[in-house]
Amino acid sequence: MTTLTPASDRIRTDLEDLAALVDPDLPGWSRVALTEVDIAGRHHAKRLMDQAGLETTIDAAGNVLGRLTSPRSGGRTIMVGSHTDTVPGGGRFDGMVGVVAAIEVVRCLRESGTVLNHDLLVVDFFSEEPNRFGLSCVGSRALVGQITADTLALTDAEGGRFGDALAAAGIDAARITGARMDFSRVDAFIELHIEQGPYLEEHGSQIGLVERITGLSRFKALFRGQRDHGGTTPMNRRRDAGCAAAGTVLAVERIASQEESSRGTAGTLTFTPTAVNVVTEQAEMSGEFRSPQGEWLDYARSEILAAAGTEASSRGVDVDFEFLPTQQPVTMDSALMGLCAESVDGLGLSRTTLFSGAEHDAAIIATQVPAVMLFVPSQGGRSHCPEEWTDHAEVTAGVTALAHSIVAVDSAELPGR
Ligand code: HGY
Ligand code: MN
Ligand code: MN
Repeated sequence: MTTLTPASDRIRTDLEDLAALVDPDLPGWSRVALTEVDIAGRHHAKRLMDQAGLETTIDAAGNVLGRLTSPRSGGRTIMVGSHTDTVPGGGRFDGMVGVVAAIEVVRCLRESGTVLNHDLLVVDFFSEEPNRFGLSCVGSRALVGQITADTLALTDAEGGRFGDALAAAGIDAARITGARMDFSRVDAFIELHIEQGPYLEEHGSQIGLVERITGLSRFKALFRGQRDHGGTTPMNRRRDAGCAAAGTVLAVERIASQEESSRGTAGTLTFTPTAVNVVTEQAEMSGEFRSPQGEWLDYARSEILAAAGTEASSRGVDVDFEFLPTQQPVTMDSALMGLCAESVDGLGLSRTTLFSGAEHDAAIIATQVPAVMLFVPSQGGRSHCPEEWTDHAEVTAGVTALAHSIVAVDSAELPGR
Protein backbone atom coordinates (compact mmCIF):
# COMPACT_ATOMS: atom_id res chain seq x y z
CA MET A 1 0.00 0.00 0.00
CA THR A 2 1.28 3.45 -0.93
CA THR A 3 2.08 5.52 2.16
CA LEU A 4 1.88 9.28 1.77
CA THR A 5 2.93 11.59 4.59
CA PRO A 6 1.67 15.16 4.19
CA ALA A 7 4.02 17.76 5.65
CA SER A 8 2.26 19.37 8.57
CA ASP A 9 4.45 22.48 8.52
CA ARG A 10 3.81 23.14 4.82
CA ILE A 11 0.06 22.84 5.37
CA ARG A 12 0.24 25.26 8.28
CA THR A 13 2.32 27.74 6.24
CA ASP A 14 -0.06 27.59 3.29
CA LEU A 15 -3.08 28.24 5.52
CA GLU A 16 -1.31 31.08 7.32
CA ASP A 17 -0.19 32.69 4.05
CA LEU A 18 -3.76 32.58 2.72
CA ALA A 19 -5.01 33.99 6.02
CA ALA A 20 -2.77 37.02 5.43
CA LEU A 21 -4.52 37.83 2.13
CA VAL A 22 -7.69 39.29 3.59
CA ASP A 23 -9.68 42.53 3.65
CA PRO A 24 -8.29 44.62 6.53
CA ASP A 25 -11.53 46.59 6.79
CA LEU A 26 -13.64 43.56 7.69
CA PRO A 27 -13.56 41.42 10.83
CA GLY A 28 -12.16 37.91 10.83
CA TRP A 29 -10.56 36.63 7.64
CA SER A 30 -12.55 38.07 4.73
CA ARG A 31 -11.83 37.30 1.10
CA VAL A 32 -15.21 37.99 -0.44
CA ALA A 33 -15.70 36.98 -4.08
CA LEU A 34 -15.33 39.71 -6.68
CA THR A 35 -12.98 41.75 -4.47
CA GLU A 36 -9.28 42.52 -4.90
CA VAL A 37 -8.30 40.20 -2.04
CA ASP A 38 -10.30 37.38 -3.59
CA ILE A 39 -8.33 37.80 -6.80
CA ALA A 40 -5.11 37.88 -4.74
CA GLY A 41 -6.13 34.71 -2.92
CA ARG A 42 -6.78 32.82 -6.13
CA HIS A 43 -3.52 34.00 -7.68
CA HIS A 44 -1.74 32.83 -4.54
CA ALA A 45 -3.37 29.42 -4.94
CA LYS A 46 -2.16 29.39 -8.56
CA ARG A 47 1.39 30.15 -7.39
CA LEU A 48 1.25 27.25 -4.92
CA MET A 49 0.01 24.99 -7.72
CA ASP A 50 2.81 26.18 -10.03
CA GLN A 51 5.40 25.55 -7.31
CA ALA A 52 3.97 22.06 -6.78
CA GLY A 53 4.64 21.34 -10.45
CA LEU A 54 1.09 21.51 -11.77
CA GLU A 55 0.17 22.80 -15.24
CA THR A 56 -2.01 25.71 -14.17
CA THR A 57 -4.58 27.97 -15.73
CA ILE A 58 -7.36 30.31 -14.68
CA ASP A 59 -10.42 29.45 -16.74
CA ALA A 60 -13.09 31.73 -18.18
CA ALA A 61 -15.07 31.45 -14.94
CA GLY A 62 -12.21 32.46 -12.65
CA ASN A 63 -11.56 28.90 -11.44
CA VAL A 64 -7.88 28.14 -10.81
CA LEU A 65 -7.07 24.73 -12.27
CA GLY A 66 -3.83 22.77 -11.88
CA ARG A 67 -3.24 19.44 -13.62
CA LEU A 68 -0.76 16.71 -12.60
CA THR A 69 -0.57 14.61 -15.75
CA SER A 70 -0.01 10.88 -15.43
CA PRO A 71 1.75 8.99 -18.23
CA ARG A 72 -0.75 6.18 -17.66
CA SER A 73 -4.00 8.13 -17.58
CA GLY A 74 -4.97 8.47 -21.22
CA GLY A 75 -6.66 11.63 -19.98
CA ARG A 76 -8.78 9.95 -17.32
CA THR A 77 -8.93 12.35 -14.40
CA ILE A 78 -9.72 12.63 -10.70
CA MET A 79 -10.76 16.14 -9.61
CA VAL A 80 -9.96 17.44 -6.15
CA GLY A 81 -10.29 20.87 -4.58
CA SER A 82 -12.46 23.46 -2.88
CA HIS A 83 -12.55 27.28 -2.65
CA THR A 84 -10.54 30.16 -1.20
CA ASP A 85 -13.22 32.83 -1.09
CA THR A 86 -14.94 33.50 2.24
CA VAL A 87 -18.05 35.05 3.70
CA PRO A 88 -17.58 38.57 5.09
CA GLY A 89 -16.07 38.17 8.58
CA GLY A 90 -15.36 34.52 7.93
CA GLY A 91 -12.66 32.19 9.15
CA ARG A 92 -9.35 30.72 7.99
CA PHE A 93 -10.44 27.17 7.17
CA ASP A 94 -13.75 27.13 5.22
CA GLY A 95 -12.65 26.10 1.73
CA MET A 96 -8.98 26.87 2.27
CA VAL A 97 -8.39 23.48 3.90
CA GLY A 98 -9.55 21.70 0.74
CA VAL A 99 -7.44 23.74 -1.66
CA VAL A 100 -4.28 23.55 0.46
CA ALA A 101 -4.85 19.82 1.03
CA ALA A 102 -5.17 19.10 -2.69
CA ILE A 103 -1.90 20.89 -3.41
CA GLU A 104 -0.13 19.11 -0.53
CA VAL A 105 -1.33 15.75 -1.90
CA VAL A 106 0.33 16.61 -5.22
CA ARG A 107 3.58 17.41 -3.40
CA CYS A 108 3.39 14.06 -1.54
CA LEU A 109 2.72 12.12 -4.73
CA ARG A 110 5.70 13.70 -6.46
CA GLU A 111 8.06 13.40 -3.49
CA SER A 112 7.17 9.74 -3.02
CA GLY A 113 7.42 9.00 -6.73
CA THR A 114 3.85 7.75 -6.72
CA VAL A 115 2.43 7.71 -10.25
CA LEU A 116 -1.35 7.56 -10.41
CA ASN A 117 -3.40 5.91 -13.14
CA HIS A 118 -5.28 9.21 -13.47
CA ASP A 119 -4.39 12.82 -14.02
CA LEU A 120 -5.11 14.79 -10.88
CA LEU A 121 -6.98 18.04 -11.52
CA VAL A 122 -6.71 20.43 -8.57
CA VAL A 123 -9.36 23.19 -8.46
CA ASP A 124 -9.81 26.40 -6.51
CA PHE A 125 -13.43 27.18 -7.43
CA PHE A 126 -14.40 30.81 -7.98
CA SER A 127 -17.03 32.39 -5.69
CA GLU A 128 -18.29 29.38 -3.75
CA GLU A 129 -19.84 31.63 -1.10
CA PRO A 130 -23.06 33.48 -1.95
CA ASN A 131 -21.98 36.80 -3.46
CA ARG A 132 -23.87 40.07 -3.26
CA PHE A 133 -26.07 38.85 -6.09
CA GLY A 134 -27.19 35.92 -3.93
CA LEU A 135 -25.52 33.37 -6.17
CA SER A 136 -23.12 30.77 -4.76
CA CYS A 137 -20.84 28.12 -6.30
CA VAL A 138 -20.38 30.33 -9.37
CA GLY A 139 -17.18 28.67 -10.60
CA SER A 140 -18.44 25.12 -10.24
CA ARG A 141 -21.79 26.07 -11.79
CA ALA A 142 -19.93 27.53 -14.77
CA LEU A 143 -18.00 24.27 -15.17
CA VAL A 144 -21.27 22.31 -15.35
CA GLY A 145 -22.98 24.82 -17.63
CA GLN A 146 -25.37 26.39 -15.10
CA ILE A 147 -24.24 30.00 -15.65
CA THR A 148 -26.43 31.47 -18.38
CA ALA A 149 -27.16 34.88 -19.82
CA ASP A 150 -30.04 35.13 -17.31
CA THR A 151 -27.59 34.61 -14.46
CA LEU A 152 -25.50 37.51 -15.71
CA ALA A 153 -28.56 39.75 -15.46
CA LEU A 154 -28.94 39.19 -11.68
CA THR A 155 -28.75 42.49 -9.82
CA ASP A 156 -27.46 43.51 -6.39
CA ALA A 157 -29.06 45.92 -3.90
CA GLU A 158 -27.73 48.88 -5.86
CA GLY A 159 -29.10 47.54 -9.15
CA GLY A 160 -25.66 46.56 -10.42
CA ARG A 161 -25.56 43.61 -12.87
CA PHE A 162 -23.69 40.39 -12.04
CA GLY A 163 -22.16 40.39 -15.53
CA ASP A 164 -20.69 43.85 -14.94
CA ALA A 165 -19.32 42.82 -11.53
CA LEU A 166 -17.60 39.84 -13.15
CA ALA A 167 -16.02 42.13 -15.74
CA ALA A 168 -14.76 44.41 -12.95
CA ALA A 169 -13.13 41.33 -11.37
CA GLY A 170 -11.40 40.49 -14.62
CA ILE A 171 -13.80 37.75 -15.68
CA ASP A 172 -15.23 38.05 -19.18
CA ALA A 173 -18.97 37.59 -18.63
CA ALA A 174 -19.42 36.67 -22.30
CA ARG A 175 -16.97 33.79 -21.91
CA ILE A 176 -18.15 32.53 -18.48
CA THR A 177 -21.28 31.05 -20.04
CA GLY A 178 -18.95 29.00 -22.24
CA ALA A 179 -16.68 27.82 -19.40
CA ARG A 180 -18.36 24.44 -19.39
CA MET A 181 -15.90 21.60 -18.78
CA ASP A 182 -15.90 18.22 -20.55
CA PHE A 183 -16.47 15.76 -17.70
CA SER A 184 -16.49 12.68 -19.94
CA ARG A 185 -13.04 11.61 -18.73
CA VAL A 186 -13.47 12.64 -15.09
CA ASP A 187 -14.01 9.58 -12.91
CA ALA A 188 -14.45 11.19 -9.49
CA PHE A 189 -14.44 14.42 -7.52
CA ILE A 190 -13.21 14.47 -3.91
CA GLU A 191 -13.39 17.49 -1.58
CA LEU A 192 -11.89 17.86 1.89
CA HIS A 193 -13.68 20.50 3.97
CA ILE A 194 -14.26 21.53 7.57
CA GLU A 195 -17.60 20.29 8.91
CA GLN A 196 -18.75 23.75 10.00
CA GLY A 197 -21.06 22.08 12.54
CA PRO A 198 -20.81 20.23 15.89
CA TYR A 199 -21.34 16.61 14.83
CA LEU A 200 -17.75 15.30 14.54
CA GLU A 201 -16.64 16.99 17.75
CA GLU A 202 -19.67 15.59 19.62
CA HIS A 203 -18.96 12.11 18.29
CA GLY A 204 -15.20 12.32 18.83
CA SER A 205 -14.56 11.49 15.17
CA GLN A 206 -11.49 12.67 13.30
CA ILE A 207 -13.01 12.24 9.83
CA GLY A 208 -16.54 12.69 8.54
CA LEU A 209 -17.80 10.93 5.41
CA VAL A 210 -20.61 13.02 3.92
CA GLU A 211 -23.65 11.00 2.81
CA ARG A 212 -25.80 13.88 1.58
CA ILE A 213 -25.42 17.62 0.98
CA THR A 214 -28.29 19.90 1.86
CA GLY A 215 -30.71 21.32 -0.65
CA LEU A 216 -31.29 25.04 -0.52
CA SER A 217 -33.54 27.76 -1.85
CA ARG A 218 -32.62 31.44 -1.69
CA PHE A 219 -34.86 34.43 -2.25
CA LYS A 220 -34.92 38.24 -2.31
CA ALA A 221 -37.92 40.42 -1.42
CA LEU A 222 -38.45 44.14 -2.00
CA PHE A 223 -41.17 45.79 0.12
CA ARG A 224 -42.41 49.21 -1.04
CA GLY A 225 -44.48 51.39 1.30
CA GLN A 226 -44.67 55.11 1.99
CA ARG A 227 -42.19 57.46 3.62
CA ASP A 228 -43.88 59.54 6.36
CA HIS A 229 -43.12 61.49 9.52
CA GLY A 230 -42.49 59.08 12.39
CA GLY A 231 -44.03 61.39 14.95
CA THR A 232 -47.11 62.81 13.30
CA THR A 233 -48.33 59.83 11.26
CA PRO A 234 -50.89 57.76 13.21
CA MET A 235 -50.14 54.02 13.31
CA ASN A 236 -53.29 53.21 11.31
CA ARG A 237 -52.28 55.53 8.48
CA ARG A 238 -48.84 54.09 7.80
CA ARG A 239 -47.60 51.91 4.94
CA ASP A 240 -44.48 50.74 6.74
CA ALA A 241 -42.29 48.60 4.45
CA GLY A 242 -39.88 47.96 7.33
CA CYS A 243 -42.51 46.29 9.49
CA ALA A 244 -43.70 44.16 6.57
CA ALA A 245 -40.11 42.99 6.00
CA ALA A 246 -39.54 42.39 9.69
CA GLY A 247 -42.64 40.20 9.87
CA THR A 248 -41.32 38.21 6.91
CA VAL A 249 -37.94 37.78 8.59
CA LEU A 250 -39.72 36.23 11.58
CA ALA A 251 -41.75 34.07 9.19
CA VAL A 252 -38.49 32.56 7.88
CA GLU A 253 -37.65 31.54 11.44
CA ARG A 254 -41.18 30.23 12.12
CA ILE A 255 -41.37 28.14 8.93
CA ALA A 256 -37.90 26.60 9.36
CA SER A 257 -38.50 25.83 13.05
CA GLN A 258 -41.30 23.43 12.16
CA GLU A 259 -38.83 20.64 11.19
CA GLU A 260 -35.75 19.47 13.09
CA SER A 261 -33.70 19.03 9.88
CA SER A 262 -34.69 22.29 8.17
CA ARG A 263 -32.92 25.63 8.39
CA GLY A 264 -34.05 29.17 7.55
CA THR A 265 -31.95 32.32 7.60
CA ALA A 266 -32.85 35.87 6.68
CA GLY A 267 -29.33 37.11 6.27
CA THR A 268 -29.81 40.64 4.93
CA LEU A 269 -32.32 43.44 5.59
CA THR A 270 -31.92 47.00 4.29
CA PHE A 271 -34.25 49.89 5.18
CA THR A 272 -34.61 53.05 3.09
CA PRO A 273 -34.35 55.72 4.38
CA THR A 274 -32.13 54.87 7.31
CA ALA A 275 -33.70 57.46 9.61
CA VAL A 276 -35.03 56.78 13.08
CA ASN A 277 -37.89 59.27 12.71
CA VAL A 278 -39.12 58.33 9.21
CA VAL A 279 -41.59 55.56 8.41
CA THR A 280 -39.68 53.09 6.19
CA GLU A 281 -40.48 53.53 2.52
CA GLN A 282 -38.55 50.56 1.15
CA ALA A 283 -37.14 47.41 2.72
CA GLU A 284 -35.08 44.80 0.90
CA MET A 285 -34.35 41.40 2.42
CA SER A 286 -32.77 38.17 1.31
CA GLY A 287 -32.94 34.76 2.87
CA GLU A 288 -32.60 31.05 2.37
CA PHE A 289 -34.14 27.76 3.38
CA ARG A 290 -32.20 24.50 3.60
CA SER A 291 -33.28 20.91 4.00
CA PRO A 292 -32.21 17.37 3.18
CA GLN A 293 -35.70 16.97 1.67
CA GLY A 294 -36.28 18.69 -1.65
CA GLU A 295 -40.06 18.62 -1.23
CA TRP A 296 -39.78 20.53 2.07
CA LEU A 297 -38.05 23.34 0.19
CA ASP A 298 -41.06 23.56 -2.14
CA TYR A 299 -43.30 23.81 0.94
CA ALA A 300 -41.12 26.52 2.50
CA ARG A 301 -41.12 28.56 -0.72
CA SER A 302 -44.92 28.60 -0.86
CA GLU A 303 -45.16 29.38 2.87
CA ILE A 304 -42.77 32.34 2.78
CA LEU A 305 -44.46 33.74 -0.33
CA ALA A 306 -47.82 33.62 1.46
CA ALA A 307 -46.35 35.10 4.64
CA ALA A 308 -44.71 38.00 2.78
CA GLY A 309 -47.98 38.67 0.95
CA THR A 310 -49.90 38.84 4.23
CA GLU A 311 -47.29 41.00 5.99
CA ALA A 312 -47.38 43.41 3.04
CA SER A 313 -51.09 43.54 2.23
CA SER A 314 -52.08 44.00 5.88
CA ARG A 315 -50.04 47.22 5.82
CA GLY A 316 -50.92 48.49 2.38
CA VAL A 317 -47.38 47.68 1.26
CA ASP A 318 -46.38 46.22 -2.13
CA VAL A 319 -43.91 43.34 -2.33
CA ASP A 320 -41.83 41.87 -5.16
CA PHE A 321 -40.54 38.40 -4.38
CA GLU A 322 -37.75 36.71 -6.37
CA PHE A 323 -36.59 33.12 -5.85
CA LEU A 324 -33.22 31.89 -7.07
CA PRO A 325 -33.33 28.35 -8.53
CA THR A 326 -33.73 25.69 -5.84
CA GLN A 327 -30.69 23.51 -5.41
CA GLN A 328 -31.85 19.99 -4.70
CA PRO A 329 -30.18 17.87 -1.98
CA VAL A 330 -27.37 15.74 -3.40
CA THR A 331 -26.38 12.22 -2.34
CA MET A 332 -22.69 11.41 -2.40
CA ASP A 333 -21.39 8.39 -4.32
CA SER A 334 -21.54 5.23 -2.19
CA ALA A 335 -18.69 3.45 -3.99
CA LEU A 336 -16.39 6.42 -3.41
CA MET A 337 -17.56 6.61 0.20
CA GLY A 338 -16.61 2.97 0.66
CA LEU A 339 -13.14 3.53 -0.75
CA CYS A 340 -12.62 6.57 1.48
CA ALA A 341 -13.88 4.64 4.50
CA GLU A 342 -11.35 1.85 3.85
CA SER A 343 -8.54 4.42 3.48
CA VAL A 344 -9.51 6.17 6.71
CA ASP A 345 -9.72 2.85 8.55
CA GLY A 346 -6.34 1.84 7.13
CA LEU A 347 -4.88 4.97 8.66
CA GLY A 348 -6.40 4.15 12.04
CA LEU A 349 -8.43 7.37 12.03
CA SER A 350 -11.87 7.45 13.65
CA ARG A 351 -14.73 8.27 11.30
CA THR A 352 -18.47 8.70 11.10
CA THR A 353 -20.93 9.46 8.34
CA LEU A 354 -23.04 12.61 8.39
CA PHE A 355 -25.28 15.01 6.51
CA SER A 356 -23.88 18.35 5.38
CA GLY A 357 -26.02 21.35 6.31
CA ALA A 358 -23.51 23.46 4.40
CA GLU A 359 -23.57 23.64 0.64
CA HIS A 360 -20.43 22.81 -1.32
CA ASP A 361 -19.06 22.82 -4.84
CA ALA A 362 -19.16 19.03 -4.55
CA ALA A 363 -22.96 19.24 -4.82
CA ILE A 364 -22.64 20.99 -8.17
CA ILE A 365 -19.88 18.76 -9.56
CA ALA A 366 -21.87 15.71 -8.40
CA THR A 367 -24.39 16.53 -11.15
CA GLN A 368 -21.69 15.43 -13.62
CA VAL A 369 -19.46 12.84 -11.92
CA PRO A 370 -19.43 10.66 -8.77
CA ALA A 371 -18.46 12.87 -5.85
CA VAL A 372 -17.51 12.39 -2.23
CA MET A 373 -16.60 14.71 0.66
CA LEU A 374 -14.38 14.23 3.69
CA PHE A 375 -14.86 16.49 6.72
CA VAL A 376 -12.56 17.44 9.56
CA PRO A 377 -13.99 18.75 12.85
CA SER A 378 -14.88 22.39 13.54
CA GLN A 379 -14.15 23.51 17.09
CA GLY A 380 -17.43 24.20 18.88
CA GLY A 381 -19.21 23.56 15.60
CA ARG A 382 -18.52 27.18 14.66
CA SER A 383 -17.91 28.52 11.13
CA HIS A 384 -18.59 31.59 8.97
CA CYS A 385 -17.14 33.59 11.89
CA PRO A 386 -13.67 34.65 13.10
CA GLU A 387 -13.83 31.93 15.78
CA GLU A 388 -13.79 29.21 13.08
CA TRP A 389 -11.02 26.79 14.10
CA THR A 390 -9.74 23.29 13.36
CA ASP A 391 -6.71 21.99 15.24
CA HIS A 392 -3.69 21.68 13.02
CA ALA A 393 -3.28 17.99 13.78
CA GLU A 394 -6.89 17.44 12.66
CA VAL A 395 -6.27 19.31 9.41
CA THR A 396 -3.19 17.19 8.75
CA ALA A 397 -5.13 14.01 9.50
CA GLY A 398 -7.71 15.16 6.97
CA VAL A 399 -5.05 15.79 4.33
CA THR A 400 -3.63 12.32 4.97
CA ALA A 401 -7.09 10.80 4.62
CA LEU A 402 -7.60 12.72 1.38
CA ALA A 403 -4.24 11.58 -0.02
CA HIS A 404 -4.90 7.91 0.67
CA SER A 405 -8.48 8.16 -0.54
CA ILE A 406 -7.26 9.54 -3.85
CA VAL A 407 -4.82 6.65 -4.19
CA ALA A 408 -7.61 4.18 -3.38
CA VAL A 409 -10.00 5.74 -5.90
CA ASP A 410 -7.20 5.88 -8.46
CA SER A 411 -6.63 2.13 -8.38
CA ALA A 412 -10.23 1.01 -7.89
CA GLU A 413 -12.45 -0.45 -10.59
CA LEU A 414 -15.33 2.04 -10.33
CA PRO A 415 -18.74 1.19 -11.79
CA GLY A 416 -19.31 2.87 -15.13
CA ARG A 417 -15.68 3.72 -15.71
O1 HGY B 1 -23.32 28.56 2.74
C1 HGY B 1 -22.72 27.48 2.84
O2 HGY B 1 -23.28 26.52 3.29
C2 HGY B 1 -21.31 27.35 2.36
O3 HGY B 1 -20.44 27.61 3.42
N1 HGY B 1 -21.05 28.19 1.23
MN1 MN C 1 -18.83 28.76 3.62
MN1 MN D 1 -17.03 26.13 2.07
